[in-house]
Amino acid sequence: MENKKIVLSGIQPTGTPTLGNYVGAVRNWALLQKEDTFCCYCVADLHAITVRQNPTELRKFRYNMAALLLAAGIDPERSIVFMQSHVPEHTQLSWVLNCNTYMGELSRMTQFKDKSAKHEDNINAGLFTYPVLMAADILLYQTDLVPVGHDQKQHLELARDIAIRFNNAFGETFKVPEGFIPGTGGRIMSLQEPEKKMSKSDPNPNGFVAIMDDPAVIRNKFKRAVTDCDGEIRYDLQNKPGVSNLLAIYSIFTGKSMDETVNDFKGSGYGALKTTVADAVVEELMPIQQRFREISADKEYVAKVLSDGAEAARRMARKTVSKAYHKTGFDK
Ligand code: TRP
Repeated sequence: MENKKIVLSGIQPTGTPTLGNYVGAVRNWALLQKEDTFCCYCVADLHAITVRQNPTELRKFRYNMAALLLAAGIDPERSIVFMQSHVPEHTQLSWVLNCNTYMGELSRMTQFKDKSAKHEDNINAGLFTYPVLMAADILLYQTDLVPVGHDQKQHLELARDIAIRFNNAFGETFKVPEGFIPGTGGRIMSLQEPEKKMSKSDPNPNGFVAIMDDPAVIRNKFKRAVTDCDGEIRYDLQNKPGVSNLLAIYSIFTGKSMDETVNDFKGSGYGALKTTVADAVVEELMPIQQRFREISADKEYVAKVLSDGAEAARRMARKTVSKAYHKTGFDK
């Protein structure tokens, strides 16, 4: 493991993971499992409670998210998959990092501002310090590379700043991680309002494709996707966000470049574009759905993967906590 790059990322256990979550996170996570990487992936259940959760649902959502990661090709023989809450080192480090983070920095986080506006009745302290817990997730593993979506870029920058600040004040303790933000893959837009990010909280269910949607539903949502009225298929985010989003999805799912993609649709109409994109998505998602059904039914298997994952994660995380505690002045 010494000469491998450590990759770490987390995903919140939302009840309805979408195509946006798949392309922005899970799919890249599977692809990052390579000869020269060691990947640690966690279901960020501690982060989830920064907004109100129903415990029964949360229990189910986090289990399903773990099963989905496995179904999507994260291989527990090569990588570790764990629940954030199973590794107490995350909260242990988080306190020390909290005391090395400024209120001013946290006040600038755009996600905090957005979420406070959305959950006016529950602007809790955890929502405010959320990025510090995320910094702990990352720094605990001496991580080299953090695959994240665009919306997490600011949090990643903060994690780097905290690491640098701590290292300067107390001596070399944390590796300063690099972000990995996939190009077009980072952002899938709503099928109904293509200027907005695809989101499961979209009140119009036609705006998002859920990973577990039926193939007929997926095809139907693509059929209704908003385009424009000039009828020409080309990539132009400014003037043709709907068509460009469809082209981006096609390019991601087929692995073709944007030039090749646009070329594939030369002379076609929007109807054909939508059907072909839907086909590509359905083709990749169907085997994942099938594996999800098998894996999630095997509770023993999932429990074993998660307990092995937590154990392996703790072995790594403990070292960093000891180091940071020692530097802080907390010795046994
Ligand atoms: N905050 C991230 C999100 O909502 C999830 C997350 C938690 C994460 N811990 C992380 C991402 C550590 C990268 C690294 O998308």
